[in-house]
Amino acid sequence: MSETPRGASRSAMLVAACRLLAAELPPEQRLINDPFASLVCDEEAIAHARADEPLQLVIRMRTKYIDDAVLAFCAEHPGAQVLLLGAGYDARPYRLALLATFYEVDFAATLELREAVYAPAMVATPRVAVPVDLANEAFDAPLIAAGFDPLAPTIVVWEGVINYLSAEAAEAVVDALGRFLAAGSTVIADYVEMNFFRDTQFERTATDLKQRLVQGGERLRGGLPDALGSLDRAGFDVIDDEAAELLPPRYGLPLAPRCYAGRLFTAVRRND
Ligand SMILES: C[S@@+](CC[C@H](N)C(=O)[O-])C[C@H]1O[C@@H](n2cnc3c(N)ncnc32)[C@H](O)[C@@H]1O
Repeated sequence: MSETPRGASRSAMLVAACRLLAAELPPEQRLINDPFASLVCDEEAIAHARADEPLQLVIRMRTKYIDDAVLAFCAEHPGAQVLLLGAGYDARPYRLALLATFYEVDFAATLELREAVYAPAMVATPRVAVPVDLANEAFDAPLIAAGFDPLAPTIVVWEGVINYLSAEAAEAVVDALGRFLAAGSTVIADYVEMNFFRDTQFERTATDLKQRLVQGGERLRGGLPDALGSLDRAGFDVIDDEAAELLPPRYGLPLAPRCYAGRLFTAVRRND
């Protein structure tokens, strides 16, 4: 694509470019395969991703972690719902052959580009686009109006989104998920570990990235300052919480040094 329509997410394109570049690695290091990313990424996004190998590693790890969780959840719950909160250009409805219905929440402009680039790929998996600004609107009512069933088993993928929200907005999303998800439903997300982030080399090198995101209208914000506490208060048990760069041994790869402040959690709605 040569031009991004105004308002469509650049950060989501950067993430897609990191997934695309996995194809250039030796097979045992790829962990993921996202040929659909080539439909959306422009040369600028690919160049920025290529220049940031630590970011590529983090994105590969978190994509693999979430792919495995979504595949396992949908195998256990045929007919499950997959809620992509901040869907961007996440190609899971196309990449993973799933018996599931996808609900795709994002800004309208990003959902429109998503639809335009992936439409030729077609997919049998049912998908429903739900345009919502998570920072300023409640998303549960539009989601349910679009056909989402709060009683059905659901896996929520909230990937690369929390730190684009203020603490207040991110906590409101967690509270809403706690209110309407059925017991046993699962949320997977990444968040920034602020204690690791402050005064580190990553904070210094992240400055360029932050500036570019701001120029594209996307500002990094507070996110969930106490992610595990917020989840507990909203009725979730956190069953896993790990730094993305510490995941390689789970996939038979050598441990990487920590370089980014991103952590991943898996949280399950309690039966209370
Ligand atoms: C870094 S991208 C990640 C996209 C996707 N989850 C992925 O991993 O490929 C962040 C996404 O969150 C979306 N987003 C950020 N703030 C949002 C908000 N207030 N409401 C809805 N979506 C938002 C952006 O539009 C973008 O698509």
